[in-house]
Amino acid sequence: MTSPALGTPGAGPAQPATVFILDFGAQYSQLIARRTRELNVYCEIVPYDTPWRALAPRNPAAIILSGGPESTLVPGAPQMDPDIIRSGVPMLGICYGMQLIARECGAELVKLDHAEYGPAMLTVDRQTPLLSGVAAQSRVWMSHGDSVVRLPEGFVEAGSTPRCRVAAMANDERKLYGVQFHPEVVHTEQGKKIIENFLHAVAGIRSDWQMESFVDRSIEQIREQVGRDKVICALSGGVDSAVAATLVSRAIGEQLTCIFVDHGLLRKNEANRVVEAFRDVLHLNVVAVDARKRFLDKLAGVSDPEQKRIIIGHEFIRVFEEEAAKIPGVKYLVQGTLYPDVIESKTPQSKAGHKIKSHHNVGGLPEQMNFSLIEPLRALFKDEVRAVGKVLGLPEAIVQRQPFPGPGLAVRIIDAITEERLDLVREADAIVCEEIDGAELDPKPWQYFAVLTPVKSVGVMGDGRTYSNLVAVRAITSEDGMTADWARLPYDLLERISTRIVNEVPGVNRVAYDITSKPPSTVEWE
Ligand code: XMP
Repeated sequence: MTSPALGTPGAGPAQPATVFILDFGAQYSQLIARRTRELNVYCEIVPYDTPWRALAPRNPAAIILSGGPESTLVPGAPQMDPDIIRSGVPMLGICYGMQLIARECGAELVKLDHAEYGPAMLTVDRQTPLLSGVAAQSRVWMSHGDSVVRLPEGFVEAGSTPRCRVAAMANDERKLYGVQFHPEVVHTEQGKKIIENFLHAVAGIRSDWQMESFVDRSIEQIREQVGRDKVICALSGGVDSAVAATLVSRAIGEQLTCIFVDHGLLRKNEANRVVEAFRDVLHLNVVAVDARKRFLDKLAGVSDPEQKRIIIGHEFIRVFEEEAAKIPGVKYLVQGTLYPDVIESKTPQSKAGHKIKSHHNVGGLPEQMNFSLIEPLRALFKDEVRAVGKVLGLPEAIVQRQPFPGPGLAVRIIDAITEERLDLVREADAIVCEEIDGAELDPKPWQYFAVLTPVKSVGVMGDGRTYSNLVAVRAITSEDGMTADWARLPYDLLERISTRIVNEVPGVNRVAYDITSKPPSTVEWE
């Protein structure tokens, strides 16, 4: 499969002023992008070694260099194409990025005896457009081990902290700036103002990037890319594939066929709701495949979590391929790839890391399929995808849908899967969702569901002894699913959930609430 060229979604007929963020492996690159977008300025993160010749055709309005874990003083540290500095495009270097600009322009840097981490007090020493309107003294967030001790020619020192002589440097004439601290983090009091100054006052970019303009441009672009060809899409019911499919359908209508594989592992009524919403409300061309038996057969007797995930992933691909083969002349495949997926696969730090579980994403299709990709959400964060969904008029239930794993209820039934156990967990889960949705909590937990454990215990119901299943309830707070805490649900809500489950779901006589965070647990039990 082929992927679109660098940041295609932002390009196109009416290209917005685009800021490029060169990513040197910082923890905070996504935050820089977020702050920029919050100012209604369009930006994209690109790998640090992106050559100027790849950026130039996109006519960058400004470039921001991120921080990074390395030291510029160490041989082999990540470098950027020097033509980027020579390009004349306004540039802001943050932390490592500032040191790179400094070095490239001839500064002297030294390794500090004691690295500086955490809060520091910034004093503005000189007026420059970058620090215009910034309080004379304010708290900033530092995280560095090297420091600029002699400025490059043409630069002035614009701000300092007690332990950092050059905390901000400026070359107003060349529009080159550097800050040693991190303006993108909330702990830097005037950070947003500094980024705003750079984008507005220095680079002269207007804040006119809106979701509506993103939608219009994407539609125009998809039409141009696809022409009269046919396109398919795997619809999962999740917000990403829903928004991607709707966007493409707005562009090319009947040329798009959505394939919805019902693997039987969805929540109560979910399969019907997905098909109804897309067919009847959004008028998409949907092929619904009832593959429930097929998946159940393949999963029969399998209790190992990884094995379940692998079987589901493979079977999904097989079903999808069979259905796709029935539609002649398909050239394109729509995928709901998001920005974090794109970044994760490119940033230097993503090369490390241990496998915890093999996440299966519906739509994670094999390389050898002979389609070109359409990834209209490649440039967006999750909350931006929801905003696009709203602009497109998608039902709230889809736009605000809580995350749901590709392998579905299979990873919420500990031990082997049977139809009965699926029914049981589905009913219990529906009660958890109904009660939590109805409680209108603020903030609402990020994710909440029921798990069917393999534990049976003794109970007493109507004077008789029972020996039945234990259902666990999980509700978590999280920002991104990477870390999570258990939600402090009110006791009366927990009581309602527990009472309803034991009364309404046959085969359950005990309910437990999961009070572990991630780490050390994971969100899903498998
Ligand atoms: P874990 O269990 O890894 O889950 O802490 C983190 C988040 O990812 C979701 N999840 C998945 N999503 N395919 C998905 O698309 C998967 O295989 C998968 N496994 C877990 C989980 O629901 C949580 O939001």
